[in-house]
Amino acid sequence: MKPGLLFVGGDEHAAAWVAAFAELAPEIDFQVLRPGQDLAGIPYCLAWKAAPDLWPRMTDLKAIFCLAAGVDRLLADATFPRDIPLVRMVEPELTRGMVEYVLWQCLFHHRRVWELEAAQSCGEWRPHVYPAPWDRTIGILGLGELGGAAAAKLVEFGFKVRGWSRTPKSLPKVESFAGRGQLPDFLRATEILVCLLPLTQETQGILNAGLFAHLPQGASLINAARGGHLVEADLATAMASGRIGAATLDVFATEPLPQDHPFWTTERLHITPHNASNTDPRSAAWRIAKQIARYEAGEKLEDIVDRARGY
Ligand code: NDP
Ligand code: OXD
Repeated sequence: MKPGLLFVGGDEHAAAWVAAFAELAPEIDFQVLRPGQDLAGIPYCLAWKAAPDLWPRMTDLKAIFCLAAGVDRLLADATFPRDIPLVRMVEPELTRGMVEYVLWQCLFHHRRVWELEAAQSCGEWRPHVYPAPWDRTIGILGLGELGGAAAAKLVEFGFKVRGWSRTPKSLPKVESFAGRGQLPDFLRATEILVCLLPLTQETQGILNAGLFAHLPQGASLINAARGGHLVEADLATAMASGRIGAATLDVFATEPLPQDHPFWTTERLHITPHNASNTDPRSAAWRIAKQIARYEAGEKLEDIVDRARGY
């Protein structure tokens, strides 16, 4: 019998996932959640966030695959099963998309593109000076799957790259800082700060006035992780004082960002609508199917979330 995988990811995305599994993993019985569906007997679930009554109805669950790299929304649900393995999304297209976003935004801040746009808007020919990449320090909070790959790409472009993680890392030409004790040293020379941390109890609100105070005056902030990392009022104050010179935010405490939110009109604050990168159904389907096959054969799942750490 084909192992069943229940998709709980929103109707707008379902067709692409159905097509990907039909083509690349026909050995899986891929089902899109239907109202009132009997969920007994379905061993696997693929979800981003779930309706509160979903989990108690999945009585034969063996493993949950998160549609996203960040599992914070699933874990925030009080009814989420604590004793079932949770696999976070790791797939090459999601990583490639994030590397592309980080590179794009770092170059945007490195070259201060908004100054060129402002000059053009008033018809002014105003060349500006910017340092060579090897004189520009980019710091990445989180050196995991995404942060590590982004760091490698920035090194390739010649930037001075440093990263901060919970445990020390050894990545070519990336200066490693680890733990709260080394955070101020990491920040001290960071001119462009990129956040790629998971949202956990420890990282909630980490992008705050205290952290900004350690950055060089006029540093740039790029948050592509979660809105919960940022204390929005502290960023507004830091941008008003020039402590943070410019920012790009992809993620927000409330999404979509409300129409009347002051960030829409804050000068030098650039907004992307939580699409720094997206899970690709085709490369994810292939990977999930492999994981299910291994698990059914009694082998271990990969990319399991450590519940104590929260990521
Ligand atoms: P990983 O789990 O692979 O990496 C997380 C990194 O953060 C690790 O280096 C980890 O350290 C570090 N970290 C975690 N907690 C702490 C802490 N308390 N102090 C210091 N470092 C810490 O995650 P990914 O790289 O796959 O994804 C990161 C996040 O990116 C996701 O959780 C999600 O929120 C966000 N994301 C956003 C997207 C978007 O479109 N905006 C798309 C995809 C992801 P260590 O290595 O020592 O464990
Ligand atoms: C993710 C996201 O965490 O898309 O994968 O935000």
